[in-house]
Amino acid sequence: MIYQKLGKTEVNIPVLGQGTWKYGENKHEAKEEIKALRFGMENGMTLIDTAEEYAQGGAERIVGEAIQDCRKEVFLTTKVSAKHCSFQGVIDAVEASLERLQTTYIDLYLQHWPSAEHEVAETMRVMAYLVEKGLVKYIGVSNFTPELIDEAQAELGNRLLACNQVGYHLNDRRIENNVLPYCQAKGITVMAYSPFGYAPKFFGNQGFPQPGSKERMALDDLAAKYGKTAYQVALNWILRKNGLVAIPKARDITHIKSNLEALGWELSDEDVEQIEWLFPKPKEGLPLQRF
Ligand SMILES: NC(=O)c1ccc[n+]([C@@H]2O[C@H](COP(=O)([O-])OP(=O)(O)OC[C@H]3O[C@@H](n4cnc5c(N)ncnc54)[C@H](OP(=O)(O)O)[C@@H]3O)[C@@H](O)[C@H]2O)c1
Repeated sequence: MIYQKLGKTEVNIPVLGQGTWKYGENKHEAKEEIKALRFGMENGMTLIDTAEEYAQGGAERIVGEAIQDCRKEVFLTTKVSAKHCSFQGVIDAVEASLERLQTTYIDLYLQHWPSAEHEVAETMRVMAYLVEKGLVKYIGVSNFTPELIDEAQAELGNRLLACNQVGYHLNDRRIENNVLPYCQAKGITVMAYSPFGYAPKFFGNQGFPQPGSKERMALDDLAAKYGKTAYQVALNWILRKNGLVAIPKARDITHIKSNLEALGWELSDEDVEQIEWLFPKPKEGLPLQRF
């Protein structure tokens, strides 16, 4: 595994973590999901991302089971829903998350989306309180634009925001226009979600380039040169950026193995240029969306 510092902290986190959206939805898949998470952890993917919203707490329960006997080895990230971003809302949410996760602390607690109802300052005030109480180690946000990060940081004062989790993949390069350079300059870790583009369609994502499409054929050809797959090329391309980690979700162990093999080699500059020509950067940056 390759590690990098979380934000401006001294904590090392793996550049490849494990997402858990869609986990915990089906009781019959629980064993397989726990097995997948444990396989990933045994192979260095000890950064686990979950959220109270996933399967209405079901994903956190799966994570709680999976990390029971190795909590200290795990860097655990979970998120408070935008709907729960009042002072008391966050307190209630964190208590429920801790119980489902069967732990006494969260390593990185994120505001899941900008809230349509509550000021960022109110949410950050309670996040700082949770750190003082020892329930949370580091504070982060998700789907935040630079302007909103500034608002959050202004409230936090000397306590630095450690991370902004945002969507990033070949078909969605918007963060390159605003969030990525901003976070790199400020020393805030960018945690790339949906690295294969599988987030819901309303986020503007299209899924992974389909076999037979012009883009996929070109990616497959390029991957073959390295003895890799198109998915590995896509992940390797994402992880070339400084200050960025990625959290693919995979339930299938062959997928986890494949994702691990996206590390430890480099695309040539020429191939990066070709990829970026095939999947051009749009003009706009990540927009502000509140929920
Ligand atoms: N903060 C936010 O608002 C937000 C939004 C979306 C996601 N997230 C986080 O980011 C994580 C990842 O994003 P995501 O779940 O949307 O999508 P993703 O990681 O882009 O894609 C997941 C899909 O890709 C498949 N897959 C994984 N590795 C593969 C490989 N090597 N080859 C072929 N297929 C592969 C998985 O299949 P199998 O499962 O069958 O193996 C699954 O269907 C989430 O789970 C969640 O933790 C955060």
